[in-house]
Amino acid sequence: MEQKKDINQIDIPFAKRTYLDNNKSTFLKKILIFSPFLFLIFSLIFLRFLRTIEGTSFNILNPQNDINQDHRIFGHLPYEEIPKEKLVLIEPNIEVHIDMRDSLLNMREEAQKDGVYLVFLSGYRSINLQNEIFYSLKSIRNQEASERARVSAPPGYSEHSTGFAIDFGDSMRRDTDFEIEFENTDAFRWLIKNAAKYHFKLSFNKNNKYIDYEPWHWRYEGSIEALKVFETSNR
Ligand code: DAL
Ligand code: ZN
Repeated sequence: MEQKKDINQIDIPFAKRTYLDNNKSTFLKKILIFSPFLFLIFSLIFLRFLRTIEGTSFNILNPQNDINQDHRIFGHLPYEEIPKEKLVLIEPNIEVHIDMRDSLLNMREEAQKDGVYLVFLSGYRSINLQNEIFYSLKSIRNQEASERARVSAPPGYSEHSTGFAIDFGDSMRRDTDFEIEFENTDAFRWLIKNAAKYHFKLSFNKNNKYIDYEPWHWRYEGSIEALKVFETSNR
């Protein structure tokens, strides 16, 4: 006998319907649309990052790169001209930075006590004067700029324009003025032994790759201003 069942009594489980959350699907769509742009932006950031790292390691490996970045010309660093009010005349034609006057004069006195007579050959030089020296001598000597720069700084690149540089001679050996031979004078030997006490330092020694050795050219580093001026050079 067939049993008739009320359809409502049959227990059929409901199939569970799943709907995508509307908000989520819009978000996913947006990501899909923008993913190429996001990829591009991240790639650019990554490339930039790589380039910075590469630049840094290149600098470490190649000192030449450092030299290019501190704005040297033929190995000479740029120097600003000292303001006129900081200049003092210590003898005819010789002006220097006021910070170094006392130390320089004391040093000359002390040298005299040891029987050594220092001559001041050149102190402060304006950028205009340096311009004349650099370009006129270059033409007279028929030299290219790079050759001339071994012995004379281009205008705007001389320590002399800061007022902190001084060229010395030996009054007993004037034939050695501005000559390498100056290194064989008593004046030079005395300077090598004593100049540091007065905060003077030889600027261009024999190891300098770009600029010729100048035993007569010294600079003063005995004030904060002077140290700041020569900070890059001493680095
Ligand atoms: N003779 C040095 C390099 C100068 O001209 O400053
Ligand atoms: Zn000099």
